[in-house]
Amino acid sequence: MSESIFSTDALHKRFGGLHATDNVSLNIARSEFRAIIGPNGAGKSTLFNLVTGFLRPDSGRILFEGADITGKSPNRLFANGLSRTFQITSIFTNLSVLENVQVALLSHHRKLFHFLQRADAQFLEPTHELLAQVGLGGSALRPASMLSHGDRKKLELAVALANRPKLLFLDEPTAGMASNERIEAIRMVRRIAGERDLTVVFTEHDMQVVFEVADRISVLHQGRIIADGPPDEIRASKDVQRVYLGETI
Ligand SMILES: Nc1ncnc2c1ncn2[C@@H]1O[C@H](COP(=O)(O)OP(=O)(O)OP(=O)(O)O)[C@@H](O)[C@H]1O
Ligand SMILES: [Mg+2]
Repeated sequence: MSESIFSTDALHKRFGGLHATDNVSLNIARSEFRAIIGPNGAGKSTLFNLVTGFLRPDSGRILFEGADITGKSPNRLFANGLSRTFQITSIFTNLSVLENVQVALLSHHRKLFHFLQRADAQFLEPTHELLAQVGLGGSALRPASMLSHGDRKKLELAVALANRPKLLFLDEPTAGMASNERIEAIRMVRRIAGERDLTVVFTEHDMQVVFEVADRISVLHQGRIIADGPPDEIRASKDVQRVYLGETI
């Protein structure tokens, strides 16, 4: 296997008596396109919140490029090249599409103070470039609140790309999209990842999408990794078939 960019070692998170993330050990190779799948409540978002600093683990370690990042804040991780999007989109709906990306670029370059003075002129070129890359080139001046659900997801992706991340966690990047939109959206992410030499870890409920695009798939069930491997191996796994009983995988 090629060089590891990211790993977790026995990561554990409890909510009261519930083991939401149960000793999860993951290893992600550089440039990999990894899917994390599992039924509702399996612990996918909790895992993403742990590894991006939004939740603190009860025990276990997280390594990014060889450094222990356990307990580091989301801002610190973002500055170091670890970015994410959320299952429920989090964009500034009172700003335009363009301004949302500008804010992200400004905060990456730590120029928030200047932003308050004259946002409109700053980072225009990289902003337009990012918007074009995610397919929002024609919507730059629209209020973000006017975007369709799918376009909000694209905007969130552009925001997450603003810090030129090395590693990107996408929690259900296609949630709420129609099934034909989903495959297109994830193919776009894959193309962008290839162009930027970006490592991507994503969750997705649409198995057709997952099995088409993922290099490897990790399956979570009740907080535990029950399978981890290339798509063919996952499809053939009896444990996985039991969890996805009745579904075509
Ligand atoms: N802040 C919290 N407090 C208490 N319980 C929580 C909290 N967050 C998540 N849980 C519980 O932890 C379990 C895992 O939830 P999580 O959101 O990580 O699952 P998921 O795999 O992302 O599900 P989905 O596919 O529906 O997004 C669930 O039983 C959930 O109810
Ligand atoms: Mg979730």
